[in-house]
Amino acid sequence: MNHDPRNEADHNGDNVQPDTNAETTLHHRRIRSFVTRAGRLSPGQQRAIDEFGPRFVVPYSPGLADWDAHFGRKAPRVLEIGFGMGATTAEIAAVRPGDDFIGVEVHEPGVGALLKLIGEQALGNIRILQHDAVEVLEHMIAPDSLDGVHIYFPDPWHKARHHKRRLIQPKFVALLVSRIKPGGYIHLATDWQNYAEQMLEVLSAEPALANTVDGYAPRPDFRPVTKFERRGLRLGHGVWDLMFRRR
Ligand SMILES: C[S@@+](CC[C@H](N)C(=O)[O-])C[C@H]1O[C@@H](n2cnc3c(N)ncnc32)[C@H](O)[C@@H]1O
Repeated sequence: MNHDPRNEADHNGDNVQPDTNAETTLHHRRIRSFVTRAGRLSPGQQRAIDEFGPRFVVPYSPGLADWDAHFGRKAPRVLEIGFGMGATTAEIAAVRPGDDFIGVEVHEPGVGALLKLIGEQALGNIRILQHDAVEVLEHMIAPDSLDGVHIYFPDPWHKARHHKRRLIQPKFVALLVSRIKPGGYIHLATDWQNYAEQMLEVLSAEPALANTVDGYAPRPDFRPVTKFERRGLRLGHGVWDLMFRRR
C-alpha cells in the first residue's frame, strides 16, 4: 500500500461488517484474521500480475504442494504471512539468495506490488499464495518442513472485542509450530505493545518453542526497518521483535 495499511479503519477493526454471504457463513465459521478489502490495482500491479503471476503465484489447492518443484531447487524454506506490499519480503529475499520464501497475502494489490518488485529485481527465490494463511498451513505445507516463519506487523485488532481476530493465538501457534522443523525459527514483529505482550505470552506458553533470548529480541540484521516503522520510531513509538525456535 502506498499509505500505512495499519491506519485503515478496517484494520483497526472499526468497520467490520457482518458476513452476509450465506454460503460463506455456513462453510467458514472460523473467525478470520483479515477482512476482505476491495483494493484497486494500479496499472503497474496489473501488468506485474499478468507478466509474472503465472511463474511466481502458486494457486491455492487443498493438498500438499511440491515446493521443491515450485522453486526448482531444494533450499531452506521460510514462510511469510501477511506480506502487505512486499517491500520487506523482497529485501530479505535479496539479502538471502540461498533461501526460498513463500509469501502469503490475501490482499490483491499487495500481490501485484510484490510481483512488480520480483520483476524489477529479478528475484528467483519468492513464490506467492493469495489465500488465507491458516488454510495454506493446514493443507499445503507439510509437517516439520519449514526452516522459518516471518510475521511482521500483523493486524493488531486494537479493540478488545476484536482480539479474537488476532493471528497470534495458542491454537494458531500450535499449527504453525507443527509445520516448522525442529531447530527452525519464528520471527515476529509488532509496533503495538499490547499485541507484543500477547505474542510473548502465547509463544512462551507453547511447549514446543524456546525463546532465543530473554523476552524481546533485538531486530535481526536481515529485517529491514520499514518506512512506517521509521516514522513511528521518530515519533517515539516502540517496535518489538520476537525470535523463538522450535525444540
Ligand atoms: C498490517 S498489514 C502488515 C503488512 C506487512 N507485513 C508490513 O509489515 O507492512 C497485515 C497484512 O496481513 C494480511 N493478512 C492478515 N491475515 C491474513 C491471513 N490469515 N492470511 C494471509 N494474509 C493475512 C493482511 O491482508 C495485511 O496485508
